[in-house]
Amino acid sequence: MIRSIEWCGDKVRFLDQTALPNDEKYVETSDINVLAEAIVKLKVRGAPLIGISAAYGTLLGLHQHKHSSAGIFLEQFHRSTSLLEKTRPTAKNLFWALERMRNVLRLNSTNNAYTLFDILESEAKAIHDEDRRMCESMGIFGAQLIESGATILTHCNSGSLATGGIGTGLGVIKTAHKAGKKISVYVDETRPLLQGARLTMCELEKENIPATLITDNSAAWTIKQKNVDVVIVGADRVVANGDTANKIGTYNLAILAKEHGIHFYVVIPTSTIDLSLTSGNEIQIEERGVDEVASFSGLCTAPKGAKVFAPAFDVTPNDYITAIVTEKGIHRPPYIESLRQAVPR
Ligand code: MRU
Repeated sequence: MIRSIEWCGDKVRFLDQTALPNDEKYVETSDINVLAEAIVKLKVRGAPLIGISAAYGTLLGLHQHKHSSAGIFLEQFHRSTSLLEKTRPTAKNLFWALERMRNVLRLNSTNNAYTLFDILESEAKAIHDEDRRMCESMGIFGAQLIESGATILTHCNSGSLATGGIGTGLGVIKTAHKAGKKISVYVDETRPLLQGARLTMCELEKENIPATLITDNSAAWTIKQKNVDVVIVGADRVVANGDTANKIGTYNLAILAKEHGIHFYVVIPTSTIDLSLTSGNEIQIEERGVDEVASFSGLCTAPKGAKVFAPAFDVTPNDYITAIVTEKGIHRPPYIESLRQAVPR
């Protein structure tokens, strides 16, 4: 399994995903600014991995202050978390992980910066480790929904490159394959940053899972012509009623799934659930820069100055979703009660 990020004592080592599939380039840094910028630029990406990276990023902001007074240490902690929470607004896991780091500090009464750092370091490692375990559980639950012979369509990347483990949506696919189910996968290339083509295709190839790349605008025709049975995706934020924010283009697939009478499954750890929002209308959707849409490989693909709308995510209304899989089990509509019970207090 690919280790997308690792904590190496006083620095972080991460795989620069923007260089894939051509280069497997690892970056080592002890600078919080480098890691924060890597999150903004999608060198590390995917909601669960962003959460893990933020937890380690907090440590980077603090490792030089282990011998400072508790006051300076706490001031630096707040500076670090506010830098990190400005990186990407839609991924719930980012805010969830930083809240966990805040909570362990709150629960501790020591005035020794060294001890506080130790406590935060253990929490960051726990966040990483728990994510790996949640992926395993989601895989086991989700694989029950996949029949042998199934043809699956997926979008973006929800695998090891997006999490601390085997993945969410891709974790289900990997687990079903490992269990001996004969499956094949169509992968949306996922414009504009091509996470499907560059990342998901690599992960499926490594696992020897039959995979075929398609352009995003082939999805309807592929579902019809290739008898796709099920769409499986991850998500960046799922709110109390089950409305789901995921990579732009996911909503298109949900509509197509409904139209063709096939299943649409969302796979998420409970760290992606945001019970403070009642509907998807309240989710802040990140917008990306013009260049990501109006150029390709450094070349302009639209007239200079062309107006561009570049949302990174869309929201799929809950009534398009057949089931939501978490590490706690398979949730069926209506989601409100079931999601509320799944989220640890
Ligand atoms: O912009 P990205 O590449 O961070 O978007 C990632 C996605 O949309 C994933 O589908 C989502 O984070 C779930 S990953 C387990």
